[in-house]
Amino acid sequence: MDDSKILVITGKGGAGKTTIATNLALALNRLKHEPILVDGNLHNPHVHVHFGIDDDKMPVNLHDVLTGKESIHKAIYEHESGLKLVPNKHTLKGFDLERSHHIKELKLHNNIVVVDGPSLGYELNNIMKICDDFILIVNPEKSSVHDAMKIKRLAAHNGIFPMGIILNKYFNNKNELSKEEIEKAIELPIIGKVMYDNDVQWALGKNTPLMHLNPNHHISKEIYKIASELPYSVI
Ligand SMILES: Nc1ncnc2c1ncn2[C@@H]1O[C@H](COP(=O)(O)OP(=O)(O)OP(=O)(O)O)[C@@H](O)[C@H]1O
Ligand SMILES: [Mg+2]
Repeated sequence: MDDSKILVITGKGGAGKTTIATNLALALNRLKHEPILVDGNLHNPHVHVHFGIDDDKMPVNLHDVLTGKESIHKAIYEHESGLKLVPNKHTLKGFDLERSHHIKELKLHNNIVVVDGPSLGYELNNIMKICDDFILIVNPEKSSVHDAMKIKRLAAHNGIFPMGIILNKYFNNKNELSKEEIEKAIELPIIGKVMYDNDVQWALGKNTPLMHLNPNHHISKEIYKIASELPYSVI
C-alpha cells in the first residue's frame, strides 16, 4: 500500500515556515524518506532563496504548473544533498490555484511531500484541500499564537487536524509565552522546539540551509530530532 503524505508547514508570516520546511526536508532526506520539498507560498516564494537558486536556474517552476504550461515532474530540481525540490517564482499573473492539485502527483511510493505553505488566506485554503498532515510554526508571542488558532479552526472546517506545533525562535526569556501557555491556547502539543540563533541568518547568507551546511549545529540537531520523531516510517 502506498503511504505517501503531503505535509504542509504553515503559521503566521515570518514565523519561520521556510526555515523549518527547508531544514526539515533535508533532515527527512537524511532519514531516507525520499522527500520532495515544494514551495507552496505563491505570493512570497522563498525556497529558491534559501537554496541560492537564481531565477535562470529554474526555467520551469511551480508557477508554470499552476498556469497549465508544464507538468510538475518537469519542475523538480535536485540539490547537491540529493534533496528534490519544486521551486516557485513570484508572479501574480495567470495562475489558477485550483491547479494546486498537481502537487498530489508528487506522492510516489511512500514518500513525503513537504510543502512550505502560505500563511492565513485564500492560498492556504487551497493548499489545505490537498494536504494530509500539517504542522503549525509558532513563535512564543501572542500574534503568532492567535494566527495558529485561526489556522487550526479553518483547517477543521476542511476536516484536517494539525499534527502539532513547532515552537520556533524562542529565547527562554521571561517576556515570551511559555510552552504550557502556548499548548493550552492552541490546544495542541508542541512536537519540537527550535531556538532563536543568528546562525540561521548566516546560513541564509551562504545560500544553504543549516542542516546541509552544518548537520552538527544545535539547530540542525533540534530539527533532525523533530523529523525523526514524525509518525512516518521508511518502507
Ligand atoms: N530559529 C531561528 N533563529 C533565528 N532566526 C530565524 C529562525 N527561524 C527563522 N529565522 C529568521 O526569521 C526570518 C523569517 O523566517 P522565514 O523566512 O523562514 O519565515 P516564513 O514564515 O517563511 O516567512 P514568510 O511568511 O515571509 O514566508 C528570516 O530572517 C529567518 O532567517
Ligand atoms: Mg516563507
